[in-house]
Amino acid sequence: MPDRPSRADAWALLTEFTDNSSLIKHALAVEAAMRAYARRFGENEEEFAAIGLIHDFDYQQNQTVETHLHVGTAILRERGWPEDWVRAVASHADYMGVPRDTLAAKTLFAVDELTGFLTACALVRPDRSVAEVQAASVKKKLKDKAFARSVNREDIVRGAEELGVDLAAHIEVVRDAMAAIADRLELPPQGQAPGAESQGSGPGLS
Ligand SMILES: [Fe+2]
Repeated sequence: MPDRPSRADAWALLTEFTDNSSLIKHALAVEAAMRAYARRFGENEEEFAAIGLIHDFDYQQNQTVETHLHVGTAILRERGWPEDWVRAVASHADYMGVPRDTLAAKTLFAVDELTGFLTACALVRPDRSVAEVQAASVKKKLKDKAFARSVNREDIVRGAEELGVDLAAHIEVVRDAMAAIADRLELPPQGQAPGAESQGSGPGLS
């Protein structure tokens, strides 16, 4: 593995361990949000993107708190991935006990659960358009415990706080990043008629 693996390396790792389309879409949504923040922060966009892509790469095969990320981080270290990336990946689950002490780690935690929540918000719209999801409505739905109950609201609010961003602005950044790749996420681009079939929002991930 090179010193700083590429986006292609990250994609290869993700798809070596993951073929579930909901999990791939989740990785792509998190990648898009990580890119958006890397640009805003003047950080390395390819690194942020790669960390976003791989953050749950072991989840399909390791879905418990005893295995998810324990297995993944061991594989990353075995294969020589950069230690700061491994720590960023580990730190997105509190149970791993790794502090979120880099901007990449803070960003990953802040965007992870929010991408799932925004997907759920888009899917209940008649047009299923993520681009049209409004921050005020997202904030309202965050208080509705029955809505998208698998998503951890506390992590969304705490993630924005740790990153030092206003929650409404944060929702808009992640929404716009997801809207820009709506086709890859199988959400209709702005203004397009809804599909006939409905989809679940995928598993809630840590
Ligand atoms: Fe995730």
